[in-house]
Amino acid sequence: VSPGRKPELVPPTDANIARAADLLRAGELVAFPTETVYGLGADATDDRAVASIFEAKGRPRFNPLIVHFPDMGAAEAVVRFDERAEKLAETLWPGALTLVLPRRTDSPLSLLVSAGLESVAVRVPNHPVARSLLKAVGRPIAAPSANRSGAVSPTTPLHVAESLGDRVGLILAAGRCPIGLESTVLDLTGADPVLLRPGGVTLEELEALLGTKVLTPEHQPPSADPDAPKSPGMLASHYAPGCPVRLGAHDAAADEALLSFGPDTFVRGGATRLNLSPQGDLFEAAANLFAMLRALDRPEHSAIAVMSIPEQGLGVAINDRLRRAAAPRGPATLPDQPPAP
Ligand code: TXA
Ligand code: MG
Repeated sequence: VSPGRKPELVPPTDANIARAADLLRAGELVAFPTETVYGLGADATDDRAVASIFEAKGRPRFNPLIVHFPDMGAAEAVVRFDERAEKLAETLWPGALTLVLPRRTDSPLSLLVSAGLESVAVRVPNHPVARSLLKAVGRPIAAPSANRSGAVSPTTPLHVAESLGDRVGLILAAGRCPIGLESTVLDLTGADPVLLRPGGVTLEELEALLGTKVLTPEHQPPSADPDAPKSPGMLASHYAPGCPVRLGAHDAAADEALLSFGPDTFVRGGATRLNLSPQGDLFEAAANLFAMLRALDRPEHSAIAVMSIPEQGLGVAINDRLRRAAAPRGPATLPDQPPAP
C-alpha cells in the first residue's frame, strides 16, 4: 500500500470478497469485519505481509497476533488441541474466544505471528463476511484489531478508515460489529487455564465448560504491555481515546463528557452525554463502548467521566477496557522496543 492512498470501503459482495482474498494472497493488508471488532488481516504464512501489519499499526514488534481460521480442522494443522481446547472449540466456535495453544513444529505460519513464542493464539470468528473471506483465501489470516496500536478498537468501517487511513488498501465494510469487544484470550499451554484478556466470552461460561477455575490476571503479575503476555510490569495505557478518562463517576463537570450506564436522569452535569445502555444491559453496553468513547473524544471535553459498570459477565471485559483507557499515558508506559521492520 502506498502512503497517501485513500482506503477503499466496499460492500462485502462475493466479487469484493474474492478481490480481498486475492489481495491477501498477494501479501497485501485487508480490513474485514468480525463479530467482535474489525480486523487488519494478512496472510499468516507470509513473513513480509505479517511484518506490514506491525508497521501499519505502529505496534511494538514483539506483540503476538491472533490467527484466524474458517474452522477447527484448519486450526489443527497449526496448533495442538488437548481435551480442554477441543471441548471449548467444539462448544464456542465459531465465536469470540481465542485459544493460546502449542504451535506444531511443522506449522506453515510465519514465526512473526507469535513473536518468537512456542504458542499461537487461534480463533474461528463467527461473522459471515469473515468466514467467507477465510474460506476464499484458503490460508490462515493473522489479524489484530484494525486500529493504530494503543488506540480505541474499531467497531465500524469508518473507525478503520479514520485510524489506519492510508495504511490499508481495502476495507470490507459490513456495518457495526455485533459484540463490539475483542475476543476472550485463554492460555491453555499450561496445567491451569489462564485468562490473558477478558472479552466477548465470559469467565463464567469458560469455567462452567471446563469444570475448573480459570486463573485471572489478578493471580498474575500485571503486564507492562497489554499485548505482551506474561511479562512483568505495570498496567499500560491501551484502548485509549485522546481525552483523559475518569472512572466511577457519579456526576460530571460542565466541561466533561458523561458516559453513563443504566438510568441516569438524576446524574448531574456533562457537556455531552451518551448512555451505554439505559436499561443496564451489558451486551448493549459492550456493543456501544468503543463507538461512544470515540464520539465523546473531542478537544472541548476536559475528560470523559464514566459511571461504574457492574463487574460481572461482559462487565468484566468492559471494565478491563475502561481501566486501560484511563491508565496513565505517555512514552513512559510504552514498551522499550524498536518499531517493527
Ligand atoms: O476479537 C479479537 O480478538 C480481534 C479480532 C480481529 O479477531 N483481534 C484482536 O487482536 O483483538 P489483537 O492483536 O488486538 O489482540 C491479540 C491479543 C493480545 O492481547 C495478545 O497478547 C494475545 O492476543 N496473544 C496473541 N498471541 C498470543 C500468544 N501466542 N500467547 C499469548 N497471548 C497472545
Ligand atoms: Mg487490539
